[in-house]
Amino acid sequence: MDSWCDVADAPSLSPGHCRTVEARGRRITLVCLEDGFHAVEDTCPHRGASMGSGFLDGCTLHCPLHGWAFDVRTGAGLTRPDKPLRSFPTRVLDGRVWIEVGTGTPEGAAP
Ligand code: FES
Repeated sequence: MDSWCDVADAPSLSPGHCRTVEARGRRITLVCLEDGFHAVEDTCPHRGASMGSGFLDGCTLHCPLHGWAFDVRTGAGLTRPDKPLRSFPTRVLDGRVWIEVGTGTPEGAAP
């Protein structure tokens, strides 16, 4: 569990919501969908907005500044496929959400 970080109380985030969390000094957007939790890099690759303040529409997260869209399940860039978000594995243990920050998928690669 060395690369895993405890970041949130699972019941504190309901499906359809997201927020920014910190894990080992890295800002990550934690997203709750009906199928569970997902985590992507918090910094938008366009101009650096915090994706945790973005707008969620299903599994699509829209940047709050200029609206670039990303699939939170993979980090794939939907507006700009060449500019994805890094994604990270998540798990829930004893009611806490954990993110594996040590092995996030490289820039939008499929997990
Ligand atoms: S800063 Fe995110 S789309 Fe511009």
